[in-house]
Amino acid sequence: MCGIFAYLNYLTPKSRLEVLDLLVTGLKRLEYRGYDSTGVAIDSPDSKNIVMVKRTGKVKVLEDAIKEHFSGGEYSEPVMTHIGIAHTRWATHGVPCERNSHPHRSDEGNGFVVVHNGIITNYNDVKTFLAKRGYEFESDTDTEVFAKLVHHLWKTHPTYSFRELVEQAILQVEGAFAIAVKSKHFPGECVASRRSSPLLVAIKTKSRLATDHIPILYGKVLPRSDSTSEFMPEEKEVEYFFASDASAVIEHTNRVIYLEDDDVAAVRDGTLSIHRLKKSLDDPHAREITTLKMEIQQIMKGNYDYFMQKEIFEQPDSVVNTMRGRVRFDGNAIVLGGIKDYIPEIKRCRRLMLIGCGTSYHSAVATRQLLEELTELPVIVELASDFLDRNTPIFRDDVCFFISQSGETADTLMALRYCKQRGALIVGITNTVGSSICRESHCGVHINAGPEIGVASTKAYTSQFISLVMFALVMSEDRLSLQQRRLEILQALSNLADQIRKVLKLDSKVQELAKDLYQHKSLLIMGRGYNFATCLEGALKVKELTYMHSEGIMAGELKHGPLALVDDSMPVLMIVLRDPVYVKCMNALQQVTSRKGCPVIICEEGDEETKAFSSRHLEIPRTVDCLQGILTVIPMQLLSYHIAVLRGCDVDCPRNLAKSVTVE
Ligand code: F6R
Repeated sequence: MCGIFAYLNYLTPKSRLEVLDLLVTGLKRLEYRGYDSTGVAIDSPDSKNIVMVKRTGKVKVLEDAIKEHFSGGEYSEPVMTHIGIAHTRWATHGVPCERNSHPHRSDEGNGFVVVHNGIITNYNDVKTFLAKRGYEFESDTDTEVFAKLVHHLWKTHPTYSFRELVEQAILQVEGAFAIAVKSKHFPGECVASRRSSPLLVAIKTKSRLATDHIPILYGKVLPRSDSTSEFMPEEKEVEYFFASDASAVIEHTNRVIYLEDDDVAAVRDGTLSIHRLKKSLDDPHAREITTLKMEIQQIMKGNYDYFMQKEIFEQPDSVVNTMRGRVRFDGNAIVLGGIKDYIPEIKRCRRLMLIGCGTSYHSAVATRQLLEELTELPVIVELASDFLDRNTPIFRDDVCFFISQSGETADTLMALRYCKQRGALIVGITNTVGSSICRESHCGVHINAGPEIGVASTKAYTSQFISLVMFALVMSEDRLSLQQRRLEILQALSNLADQIRKVLKLDSKVQELAKDLYQHKSLLIMGRGYNFATCLEGALKVKELTYMHSEGIMAGELKHGPLALVDDSMPVLMIVLRDPVYVKCMNALQQVTSRKGCPVIICEEGDEETKAFSSRHLEIPRTVDCLQGILTVIPMQLLSYHIAVLRGCDVDCPRNLAKSVTVE
């Protein structure tokens, strides 16, 4: 939901063209967060002004505009110290257009320019306040009020430092934000802050940093003389990056600080300080400098056409990475380091609640039955947004799981805070180290799927699924009556990567099928039991990638309404596997074929009896019932991918969507 990138070089000469190149590359890495419009701001060649370029559309359009706008000459002269800020937008206030693109400015002279991710909820009040003082607004955005508010404070408090101005401004705004501000009145300085939207600072120096933390300064005044309270690199030359996530900085440095809500990070004379206005009892004294474990290859497309395609094909490895160091197949033991100390408390709970949005919610639907079976506890599955709308009762002895690939989804995060306030134990299941959900959970499981860049979630789903299965296995470790079942599941987990490889070999067959389906208006996907989640997830993938209508239908509900849709022209896909609900699924299949429906069937390898019901089928290897959903979802991922390509859709960046939904 908008990507922010800022770059500051201090005593490390770089030409403005090099800076622009860095900014554009940073934005490309963040494009998955929003791709409606983009913009950059750098210093003018005489360093007395700020120049901005903004474009509607994706980063490529901005890149071309920059090439046209800035060529050689003075822009290729090296500058010792400089700050550039950049933004890729997912529109919330105002349509995508250049006028609404970031950076937004404080005044015609570009005194202060701001990039922002999130929503300033009281922007109308601030706007009215500023309009009464003569400010005129040129965009429909909430962000513009922030730039103008900083300008107003600068005029009324001429002695304030840049950091103090931004700090005073954030005290006046409500809602969620991550911001980075540049000013022509404070050259070479950058100030950034966050509240409920992610932001990190990355540090690049020639030699390894001698410190692992940066002390936090508390209180109103920043004591400039107290240099021990700030981060000053041993050598003077330093580069800082401010970014919405780590994928934008990993090619430059692996040393990052994840900012916390209301931290104000400021760089002045090459020195970074982190400041907070108030200190509460449990506030730490320092922010840790984390070493990222991510590799640059993980965020490149390699030989694939799209990130989504790469991520689908990574699943044999990503599922193994989720289990690595946790499942010991020889000793049939599982240890989940992030929650092991909490297992006794979890076993005493009243109920388990699994909460998430979209695909993450589907992973909860997919594993609910197994969790009920192996934990013998009531398991409640909730959509985060609906959960909040209902003011759902939560008790101190509830255990609430928050499932989120990004770890930043606003609805999920709000639901987490709601449950935490009511005393429940909070378990985070996320893919993003340092994310808000990670940090605000009492304990959790990191799914280790690796960076997921395609907006449509694929490998994160299968890894979330496996993380929850592993949790169910941990919970049933000491239940004698469940040992046979546990062994059967562990055995199946050990074969899973090879079976996924086998399913991926169906790719060309799925592509052929996509050719039959891509011109249709609708696709119904039916199944039940352990495969109902695949129907929901498959339909979501089809909708978001291909813009075709699609519906995941519980096969048991067919005769209660959806059967009326079935005729000889309605495309239907049915999942019919040899599990405890096989007979019921066959009933549904017969109901469909007797209405002249001609379904595509996903069935088990060599199941001639089921295959006889249709000429079109995809055969998948046999596995234990509770893991079938991992093998059945992969053909659905492939099918939506191929239909999207055939329909000419932008696979990695579907229209109107963004990867990380940081607004409610
Ligand atoms: C669909 C998709 C979304 C996300 C949802 C939650 O392909 O990616 O439905 O699953 O927005 O996002 P996270 O998991 O980051 O909380």
